[in-house]
Amino acid sequence: MRVTDIIEKKRDGAELTTEEIRWFIQGYTKGEIPDYQAAAWLMAVYLRGMSRRETLDLTITMAESGEQLDLSPVIDYAVDKHSTGGVGDKVTLIVLPVVAAAGVPVAKMSGRGLGFSGGTLDKLEAIAGYRVQLTDDEILQQVRDHGIVLCGQTKSLAPADGLLYALRDVTGTVPSLPLIASSIMSKKLASGAKAVVLDVKVGIGAFMKYVDEARDLAQIMVDIGAGAGREMVALISDMNQPLGEAVGNALEVKEAIEVLRGGGPADLREHCIALAAHMIRLGRRDRSKYALAEAMSEVSDLLTNGKGLAKFRELVQAQGGDVAMVDDPSRLPQAALHEEIRVDHVGHVAQVSALLVGQAVVELGAGRAKKSDPVDPAVGVIVHHKVGDHVQAGDMMFTIYANDAGKLARAKTLLQQAPVYQDREQPPLPAFYDTITSAVV
Ligand code: URA
Repeated sequence: MRVTDIIEKKRDGAELTTEEIRWFIQGYTKGEIPDYQAAAWLMAVYLRGMSRRETLDLTITMAESGEQLDLSPVIDYAVDKHSTGGVGDKVTLIVLPVVAAAGVPVAKMSGRGLGFSGGTLDKLEAIAGYRVQLTDDEILQQVRDHGIVLCGQTKSLAPADGLLYALRDVTGTVPSLPLIASSIMSKKLASGAKAVVLDVKVGIGAFMKYVDEARDLAQIMVDIGAGAGREMVALISDMNQPLGEAVGNALEVKEAIEVLRGGGPADLREHCIALAAHMIRLGRRDRSKYALAEAMSEVSDLLTNGKGLAKFRELVQAQGGDVAMVDDPSRLPQAALHEEIRVDHVGHVAQVSALLVGQAVVELGAGRAKKSDPVDPAVGVIVHHKVGDHVQAGDMMFTIYANDAGKLARAKTLLQQAPVYQDREQPPLPAFYDTITSAVV
């Protein structure tokens, strides 16, 4: 085979064979195909797209490019979740312990934030001592002992995706549906999932701006999963406004604990109940006898009876974190400066731009402009009102938590543009727009 033939074939819109995709990706991962040729191929894929069969072949090749975690010695039927990323998305911190508390063991590998989109690992590291990097043996042992692991991805997991993603990032080829879908799903397949619940975000603060686009991405990922023998549920969820009220690492941990204590913002709670219920249903193989509504009511109980919170505490302890911060969230890192932004006239909230809130929080130092940037765990924003709320002049809209006056001023400028008020009533935004499942679910 010749590299140029494969590039030209894709450039001209033809379908690559399984062998051609394997040969190309394996060659690139081994360093035998240079970046400039892989970049040309990525651009051809970006412009020409991929058939479902090609996308599945690419996903499986990337999943098999490194070590794959075999969870079968400790979990019969591993259920995983993945969010395509958003602002204020602390759902994993709540859902994972709740699912484990329901008796469905979970081992999840999460990522870090990039740009305005937050990352679960950064949130967890707001808890002093929490170890995100575990070996495969530690993961298996912790699942045996506690039924829950929440850690970072090992370097050897789907290395082809790591290499290709870095190249996509600098060649304008990130926003390609088959490349996004294969990138996400390769890591899910390699981390041992038998079933996956996808949280595909759509809106101003998400990768996908329109519901149809998000539905297409979800359908591709569901098809990849089904093609690889996995059960899939994809929820299309709103990311026009931040999820919950807290945006920023320690603030989000505190809010997650509030939900695990039976309180917290209604939208976040509703979101977590739906996601956890789908995971529990998938994890219990007798699901024909077990309706989604029943699973939702079970999750609701686990949030109010303290069992989800106890499991979160157990997780933090198992991974070396300071449980005193879970018991008393005022011990989490605190910012030195606070400032409020107030509503300037009476009306109804029509928009709270998740993008601008996310950008403000990056400006404060809670997020990253590039991968190597450090994050400040203490800073962030509390959003006091949601779309649909009736507000009066002088009501609090945002509280900013900062550690630097200059950053605070820049965040304030962004946040002042984030809300839109209207005189007439505004409908609240839905939590979910659609659900897509693989045939077997
Ligand atoms: N997340 C990923 O893991 N890969 C993508 O391509 C986009 C989002």
